[in-house]
Amino acid sequence: MASNRETADYQALDAAHHLHPFTDFAALARKGARIITRGDGVYLWDSQGNRILDGMAGLWCVNLGYGRRELVEAATRQLEILPFYNNFFQTTHPPAIELAALLAEVTPPGLEHAFFTNSGSEANDTVLRMVRRFWALQGQPDRQIVISRRNAYHGSTMAGASLGGMAPMHAQGGLPIPDIEHIGQPYWYQLGGRLAPDEFGLIAARWLQSRIEALGPARVAAFIAEPIQGAGGVVVPPDSYWPEVQRICRRFDILLVVDEVVCGFGRLGRWFGSEHFALEPDLMPIAKGLSSGYLPIGAVMVGKRVARTLIERGGEFHHGFTYSGHPACAAVAIETIRILRREAIVQRVHEQTGPYFQQRLRELLDHPLVGEVRGVGLMAGIQLSPDKRHRTPFAEEGRTGTVCRDYAFDIGLVMRAVGDSMILSPPLVITHAQIDELVCKARQALDLAARDIGMPRA
Ligand SMILES: Cc1ncc(COP(=O)(O)O)c(C=O)c1O
Repeated sequence: MASNRETADYQALDAAHHLHPFTDFAALARKGARIITRGDGVYLWDSQGNRILDGMAGLWCVNLGYGRRELVEAATRQLEILPFYNNFFQTTHPPAIELAALLAEVTPPGLEHAFFTNSGSEANDTVLRMVRRFWALQGQPDRQIVISRRNAYHGSTMAGASLGGMAPMHAQGGLPIPDIEHIGQPYWYQLGGRLAPDEFGLIAARWLQSRIEALGPARVAAFIAEPIQGAGGVVVPPDSYWPEVQRICRRFDILLVVDEVVCGFGRLGRWFGSEHFALEPDLMPIAKGLSSGYLPIGAVMVGKRVARTLIERGGEFHHGFTYSGHPACAAVAIETIRILRREAIVQRVHEQTGPYFQQRLRELLDHPLVGEVRGVGLMAGIQLSPDKRHRTPFAEEGRTGTVCRDYAFDIGLVMRAVGDSMILSPPLVITHAQIDELVCKARQALDLAARDIGMPRA
């Protein structure tokens, strides 16, 4: 166990030199960062020796949990054999080849080619360049516009943040870049009013059609969406939404890009969210769970139609990254997929832990602060509300969520707040007993948050 003095030293150094992602630098420097020093299974330890159940699998990525020897050994072996070589200039190496072939096996039918990146953001940058290149090669260079949704998250590079629909991100640095359009999201709890979820789902899907018609179908290249919005608050679309969206994309010949960076690799109890919602993506960005977060790697899985055009008519595609398909990252990704298969983890999430997690979380609906519990598999959002009968939002959005998140951390649970939704996405290896512990801690955090705002306990 590290001493307080060591923690204070770390915090001082951190405040002096480290600018954290998505952070108010001055506020954090005043408070001091929490220092995470170790992980094992679904648990983390901080520098003061506190054990914390990681209800977020890092950032939706450490799907196999911490401390998997096989992943460490796969990286070490590859670093010894060949730590780096590139995939430019007509060369490659065995891990990149084998991973591309393995991905063609485990992803939905038709996605047979992989373009490697280092992250989900870079995968979405790659998507933007690919869809525009595709339409240029099809003789339709006016098809430039990509339609996305407000409150979507597709990354933090210029293209990723533009494709995403996060207003605070757009407000900094003149985003979105041109020819990215945003429509409303299928967030029934916030936007559905008196409509039944399925009625609202159809209306939300038809916002896509209206926007395509307003822009002119001949100018629209693609529609991009997460199967379930993750960073937006685990927004599960009504059942009527996705079939209608897919119909609209086909009708106007718009490419469908399904961002599986969070939903992929078993999170929803299927290998990909596309399987859960019966989607047939033309392009599929992936990252995070691809390597269980042990090393950074992402990819775009490319469907037959786009791949054939790029391969047969494209000539050189002027795009790529030094570390596209990095050998050690690829080796870890291969081992991650092998473990998922060997231990039948996706099946276990589908049949056992996913349903149990969802059922146990729904018990929280009796809590006065909880307006809705939504989710699929091992991904869930707990919507807080001051008046659940009327689905009323809090006057000061996000304050109660933050209070609840801070209490959860103090109790020993990582549960993230997105506005006033509490978000959970634990490692896929979580057991029933650990789910019980998670739900118990979540309830304690809700009780403390309710007490703070003067609400009675459940
Ligand atoms: C759906 C989705 N797409 C893309 C990204 C960006 O991935 P990265 O942070 O690896 O760039 C994220 C990150 O959370 C995400 O949730």
